[in-house]
Amino acid sequence: MIYQNYASIYDAIGQTAFAATLAERILAALPHRPRRALDLACGTGAATFVFAAAGLTTVGVDRSPQMLAFAHARARAAGFAVTLIEADLRALPITTIAEASPHQPTLEPASFDLITCLYDSLNYLTADNELAQVLTSVSYLLKPGGHLFFDLNTEHEFKTWTESDQVVYDDQGILVYNRLNYDPDRRLAAGHIGWFVRDDTGRWWPGSETHTERAWSDNDVEAALTAAGLTLVARRTPRWEPAPADAPRIVYHAYK
Ligand SMILES: C[S@@+](CC[C@H](N)C(=O)[O-])C[C@H]1O[C@@H](n2cnc3c(N)ncnc32)[C@H](O)[C@@H]1O
Repeated sequence: MIYQNYASIYDAIGQTAFAATLAERILAALPHRPRRALDLACGTGAATFVFAAAGLTTVGVDRSPQMLAFAHARARAAGFAVTLIEADLRALPITTIAEASPHQPTLEPASFDLITCLYDSLNYLTADNELAQVLTSVSYLLKPGGHLFFDLNTEHEFKTWTESDQVVYDDQGILVYNRLNYDPDRRLAAGHIGWFVRDDTGRWWPGSETHTERAWSDNDVEAALTAAGLTLVARRTPRWEPAPADAPRIVYHAYK
């Protein structure tokens, strides 16, 4: 399983900055402040806590208990009353209030006016039907008129994944290196993340994970949104400019 050991260095190496910035841009772009937000694949809570700090009732979902443990710790430290649910995007616990168990938090249909899934989390869906399946669940959870934002690494990005053992972070006793490659026939990219963490005695401890991401095409995304009953509003770069055709990463905005 991924995002287990990696969770222990995720925040320390600055991985939350991307989604935190994007969450601010999303809030600024919406005509009305949403009331209820769902942050899918929330990880340690990068966007979740931006929404909570802005006063939204916020739910975060992730399948990694290790990432969620860091999110719980951040929520406690900041005093945020967010709900965090351990679940797979492909099997979200969607239940009406009447059916819900008091012991197991669930997601109520048509109850969110903002849903996000940030930092290429949907690239982790690799089987043909999975993007449409997850977007259909998202559509079911959105209120009519509700907004969805997600970003994807595109094939233009993955085609640059040729580097080997390149150090991408080296600070404060943590060194991280990547080994990346892309198989265009299978449209699958593999990112091997290796790291060393230095303890107080000066000893270096190694860790590693290999993450597989799928290159969903723009046509795949449009078809999945349409099948889910969602309308595409815009494709932007993370800097919030219109995304060019060869963008390495696209932020999709859709509404129900
Ligand atoms: C790159 S991290 C992004 C986390 C967070 N959104 C952020 O920006 O910091 C990807 C996250 O997706 C989660 N994830 C990947 N596949 C998932 C799935 N099928 N269901 C739920 N979570 C998933 C991982 O556990 C991880 O926390």
